This record gives sequence, C-alpha cells and structure tokens, in this order.
Amino acid sequence: MKVYIKTYGCQMNERDSEAMAGILVKAGHQMVSTETDADVLLFNTCSVRDQAERKAVGKIGFMKKLKKTKPSLIIGVAGCMAQARGESLFAELPHLDFVLGTGQLHRLAEVIDSVSKTRKNTALLEEGGEVLDGMGEHFSASAASPVSGYIAITRGCNRFCSYCIVPYVRGRELSRDARGIVAEARMLADSGIREIMLLGQNVAAYGMQGRTSAPEDHDSPFAELLEELCAIDGIKRIRFTSPYPTYFNERLIATLAREPKICRSLHLPVQSGSNRMLAAMNRQYTRERYLEIVAKLKAALPGAAFSTDVIVGFPGETQSDFEATRSLLEEVQFDQSYIFKYSPRSGTKSAALPDDVSDEVKLERNKILLDDLARRVQTALKNEVGETREVLVEGVSHRNAERWTGRTQTNRTVNFLPVEGIAVGQLRQIQITRAGSVSLFGKVVGE
Ligand code: 5AD
Ligand code: SF4
Repeated sequence: MKVYIKTYGCQMNERDSEAMAGILVKAGHQMVSTETDADVLLFNTCSVRDQAERKAVGKIGFMKKLKKTKPSLIIGVAGCMAQARGESLFAELPHLDFVLGTGQLHRLAEVIDSVSKTRKNTALLEEGGEVLDGMGEHFSASAASPVSGYIAITRGCNRFCSYCIVPYVRGRELSRDARGIVAEARMLADSGIREIMLLGQNVAAYGMQGRTSAPEDHDSPFAELLEELCAIDGIKRIRFTSPYPTYFNERLIATLAREPKICRSLHLPVQSGSNRMLAAMNRQYTRERYLEIVAKLKAALPGAAFSTDVIVGFPGETQSDFEATRSLLEEVQFDQSYIFKYSPRSGTKSAALPDDVSDEVKLERNKILLDDLARRVQTALKNEVGETREVLVEGVSHRNAERWTGRTQTNRTVNFLPVEGIAVGQLRQIQITRAGSVSLFGKVVGE
C-alpha cells in the first residue's frame, strides 16, 4: 500500500516517523509524499503544548473529505497525542481507523494489515519495552539530512517536571542496550552518514536504570556509550539532545573534553532563571547550580555554543521571575534557544494551578526573549568572521543552487561556493567571510 506520514513535534517524533517508514518499506509498502496519493495516512503527533494537539486534530478532521471520495482510505494516529487521548479519538474523529500509542509504534505494519482486512477500529496503547529495539530501521528518503542520522538511545522520562506531559505519554524511562546502538551507528556509517544525533527525553540518564537522583561524579554510562561511538571510524561527529543539566558530572565532562568528535554545541534546557519557578516546575537545580554546571562546561570546552529551552508565563511567574530568566539567558550568552509560552497539559501537576499569567503577558515576555536572542545571534555570527571552521558538507543549498552548505561543530550553517573535489560528507576547513541574518558565508581553504 501507499503510505503518507505527517510528523508533528520533536526530533524523537521525526526519528520515529523515519523508523516507521523503514518498517513499512521492509514490509512491502511504499512511502508517498502527498496525501492524495496515499492508501494510508498516518499522523505522528505531539502533545507537549495545546497548540500542537489542536493543529493535528484540525488536520485529521480535514481528512474526512478525502475519505468521502476514497472510502478505502485508512487513517491512523500515532505518538504522544494518540497515547494521551487513546480510544476517545474515535469519538472525536469518526473517520479514524487506528490509534497507535508510543509503546506500540513498532507494530505499525501489523496494524495496517489487520485494519485493511477487518476494517475494525483498532487501538494499541500498552506501554512496552519492545519499542526500544523495534525501532532501529532507517529510511534515507525520510531522513532529515544526507549526512546526519538520528539514533534513539532512551525512551520515556522519569523526571515529572510539573508542566510536562512527556512522562505520561511516553512512559517510564528506558535505555537501549549499548550493543544495539553501536550496531545501528556502524550501519549508518556504512551507508554514508558522518554525524549521529543521539536522542532521548533525557539522554544523559542513559543506563541509569531510571534513577532520578543526580549521578555520582565517577558514574556516567552515557559517557561510556559516547566513547564507544567515538571509536567508530566512519562517524566523524556526535551530537545529543536533550540532557537534563544535573547529569553533567566530572566523568561526562571529561569525556566531552577529550573526544574531538563530540560537537562543541550543547543543548541544556533551563526552563527558568528564577529559583522560585524552578522549584514550582520541579526542576532539581537552582539558578546557581545551573550556572555552575555551565561554567564547568565552558571551561572544559572552549568555544562551545549553548542552546536552551525556556518557558515563559508558568503559573505565578512575576515580572521579577521573568527578569531572572532574561538575565540568566544573557549571562550564559545563549545564541540558539527555544522559547515557549506555558500551556497547561491535563494530567500534569501544574495543570491544577491557575494559569494566571495572561496571554498578552506571555506573548510580551516571549517577544522580549526572542528579541534578545536575535541580538545575541547577530553578535555571535559577526564574531565568526575571519575565523576558519571545520564544516561538515551537506550538499547544495536549498536556497541558492549555486552555493553549497554545511554546519560547524557549533551547529551554525555556513554557505560557500563549491570547489573542485567537494563532496557531501567531507569535513572541510572554511574561512568565514561574512555573517548573514541567521547563517554564515565563507570560502573553502586547504584540501
Ligand atoms: N508548556 C510550554 N512548554 C512546555 N514544554 C514542555 N511542556 C510544556 C508546557 N506545558 C517545553 C519545555 C521542554 C520543551 C521540549 O517543551 O521547555 O524543554
Ligand atoms: Fe518533560 Fe522534564 Fe522529562 Fe524533559 S525532563 S521530558 S521537561 S518531564
């Protein structure tokens, strides 16, 4: 059958969609890129904010028309919203055929098979560990980049930050066996992938058996895994997202400092710069502890770039709490960040608190942080001019066919004119000649 997958949300969802495409192709199906060509439509959904859910429900609702003209069409929902709403989705969206929860994604081919035979509404929602190893397929046509590949190393989360629905919709934190991860990375390297991005709701908790206390300084199974992956010849760069800040202990920082393949670009979600808000969010660190971890990382990784996640308008956030967040972002000099307006999620602890910061104030705080960020990005990009950086070549730019593009270790996009012998997947030295509004321009130097 011809299958179309639409993905909402985070990189884990992108990875899951890619793995599901791989599973389907292996089972003899064909992936298509338009809804009207498909026999099966699958929506891989996100629940992290209300807006993401509304977008997906609106879109799936709209598919009713398509199903009227093509009654054999099979429509399914997978991922976080599928898990959160379960069978109630059949009442809300009567043209829906199946609902696949986050622990059952590896069974997609089987579900499509049975729904096409029986035409019975089907919901698979149990939590399960099999999904951990059952999602190792890759499908290059749906991968985000020709040189970069995602590998999921953990699933679920045990931290229960008070605003977050992830522990409820992705279940308990589980880590994959290192051997499976290393085999997957080797397979990707053999297929031409040069950079791997390790994914998990809390990647740095890898191998901690679900413990939520901050690890002892010598203890980091995640560092051990990184070292094994660095030893794979074809893999030239390793990134990971997202790590909970308190897992950066001496052992992990030493590994990051020692291994040149680990990119000098760290995503370190802070959420707020106010201790009062951090406590209400159930984040297990203070502003001071967070800054101390960043200072250690900056000392160990000179030139590293830092990015973060921030929520504005959490219940009870005052102007001075907000100013504390603003000053923390400035102090660290984040130049890549995701800023979110608080959105109450039913079932979470904070949903019981009054959502008392008005939409106008959330919007205003959001805008202030975005403006600050844009200023810092400009400064950071201008500071790059004149430097020579190692760039992983990704290919012809989508914006301008005369140029090629690639990324620095710090995850900045660099555009450049191709030279003889240039090829996708090479690491090349590029001298930065100009800063654009969001990316850099440069020229290839050396071999
Ligand atoms: N409202 C707003 N943002 C949220 N995030 C998680 N839950 C919520 C929520 N209820 C943000 C956090 C997290 C990122 C993935 O999404 O910043 O790090
Ligand atoms: Fe959500 Fe907190 Fe887990 Fe991140 S660490 S997924 S914010 S509960």
